[in-house]
This record gives sequence, C-alpha cells and structure tokens, in this order.
Amino acid sequence: MNKDALKGNGNSKKSFKSFCIIGDPVSHSLSPLMHNSAFSSLNLNYSYIAFRVPQKELEETIYSLKKLNIAGFNVTLPHKVNVVNFIDDLSYEAKKAGAVNTVNNEDGKLIGYNTDIHGLIAPLENRQIDFNNIEILIMGAGGSCRAALVALSEKKKIKKINIVNRDQKKLEKIISLGKELRLNCIPLDYDNSTVLKEVSLNSNLIINTTSIGLNNDSSPLKSNFMSKDTFVFDIVYRPIFTNLLNNAKDAGCNLIFGYEMLLHQAKKAFEIWTGLKAPLDVMEKSLFGIFGEPK
Ligand SMILES: NC(=O)c1ccc[n+]([C@@H]2O[C@H](COP(=O)([O-])OP(=O)(O)OC[C@H]3O[C@@H](n4cnc5c(N)ncnc54)[C@H](OP(=O)(O)O)[C@@H]3O)[C@@H](O)[C@H]2O)c1
Repeated sequence: MNKDALKGNGNSKKSFKSFCIIGDPVSHSLSPLMHNSAFSSLNLNYSYIAFRVPQKELEETIYSLKKLNIAGFNVTLPHKVNVVNFIDDLSYEAKKAGAVNTVNNEDGKLIGYNTDIHGLIAPLENRQIDFNNIEILIMGAGGSCRAALVALSEKKKIKKINIVNRDQKKLEKIISLGKELRLNCIPLDYDNSTVLKEVSLNSNLIINTTSIGLNNDSSPLKSNFMSKDTFVFDIVYRPIFTNLLNNAKDAGCNLIFGYEMLLHQAKKAFEIWTGLKAPLDVMEKSLFGIFGEPK
C-alpha cells in the first residue's frame, strides 16, 4: 500500500479527505456512488459529493476548491475543456486531448488528467482487439471523440478512422487533431447515408461518442448498417442497451457498453487520487445495483 495515500490533507493515518464532481447538470452522476463504495470497501475515511456548477461560476468554484484544499475532483459536461484555464498544470495525455475530467491536488497544485482516455481504451484492450490494419468508424467530434483519438493514437497500425459529425467545423477540428496524432482520419458527410452505410459495413470497430441514445433516441446506424462480429461500442451508458447497441445485437455484433468506460475512467481517477489499486469489482457492483447486469 502506498503510504502517501493515507497521509490525507493532515498527518494522521486515518485523516479525512474530500472529493467531488463538478458539472451542470450533475444530479444524474454515478461517480459519487462508485467512489464512495470504493472508499468504504477499503475503509478509507474519504467522501465524494456532486456540485452543480454553471459555466459562469467555474473559475470561482475552482478557486474555492483549491482554497478548501480539496484532495481531488472530477469534471464533467460542460467544463471538461474550460477547466484547463483555471488549474495549475496538465498531464501529458490531458494536454494532447485538450480536456480534463480528473483533477488531483498535488502539494497545493491542481493537476489535470484525462482518465476518459483510459476509460475508452480499457474495454477494447479487455477484449484483446487486434488494431493491426483495422478500419474504425467514430460518430461524433466532441470531447469524448478527442479522448478516443488520443487513446487510439497509442495503437500504431490502425488503417483508417472515419469520423462523422453533425457540426462540420467541429469535424474539421477533430480531423486536424487526428493528423497531429498521426492517425489516418477521414471526414464523412453527415447527410450521406449511402456512404455511411458502406463505411459502417466495412468497419471492424464502431464507436459512438455522440449523445444520441441518451433519451432512447434512434441511432442513424440501423442493424443492416453493421456486419456480424464487428465490435460496437456505445459510450452512452443510460440506458445500458441503447438503440445502437440493440441494433448491433440484432446484427450479431460484439457489444461494448458505455458503463465499461464509466467504470474504467473512475478506476484510473481513484488510483491517481489514492495511489491504491481500485476495487474494480466493488465499483462495478455499485453500477449494476443501478442498471442491472447486461444480459
Ligand atoms: N461512458 C462514459 O464514461 C462517458 C464519458 C464521457 C461522455 N459520455 C457520454 O458521451 C456523450 C458525449 O459526451 P462528450 O463529452 O463528447 O460531449 P460533447 O463534447 O458535448 O460532444 C457531443 C457530441 O454529440 C453530438 N450530438 C449531440 N446531440 C446530437 C444529435 N441530436 N444528433 C447528432 N449528433 C449529436 C455532437 O455533435 P455536434 O458537434 O454536431 O453538436 C458532438 O459530436 C454524452 O452523452 C456523455 O454522457 C460517456
């Protein structure tokens, strides 16, 4: 066990530490549940709560959290990019992604990390996907797509990443990021469903990083757009079976659930904050208490 992890903000071994998540909206967040379950399973005198922070209050909130000597915090929508302006330094990966979802208080300095990158790649690595010469389709060009590209840039032999997004300016920016990361990224026309279908049918891995699916809305990728055995990853985790994953199931694809990313980004954040191995099974069980286990 890392002794430093138990130092806390004071000196006693059982000292109290506080963590939180900031976002707007944030009441739906499952991070307090996962982290508090993990803290109590390891008998740590730590606690984690959620704060709703509107955009215009971000700067003063970060200032206050620093003054309170918060041990660490998560950052969710809409602050993942903006928070970069108000913290002291960034990890290498957070710098590459230009977005932060985890902040750690390191001797009074707030250091930003992006554990969404790990959250995204861990479920793919768990399935031992061979990235050599594969074609990937990514839907979306927001913060999670940035994390996906940084994660995928570690896999050297990907043939092609096709990206489709509604907002063309954002798509152009994400294609530039892909180039910086030395990935072969190709923009697709959002309105051309014939091309989308063809590309989708040829993809070995499909990742939805848009919010489509959150409200049970329909994915543009119907079951006849997907080939059997393709890996289909929907990062939307509520509902657990989104319309895309239902379509993928009908097509005989391998499913990767959004809760897996949620779990693995939390695991990495826990380990950055505490220096301890995260109790992944406890954290997963806490999520299944909400969703039920996917079958
Ligand atoms: N599982 C996890 O751990 C995890 C982690 C992070 C995020 N998420 C989920 O992933 C989703 C995206 O998060 P983010 O941080 O990347 O958000 P973001 O930066 O705001 O990006 C949102 C993306 O969704 C697209 N989009 C939204 N509504 C759409 C619609 N009706 N039709 C077509 N495209 C639409 C946007 O397209 P435009 O650019 O055209 O607006 C953009 O590409 C959210 O639902 C979030 O809850 C899950």
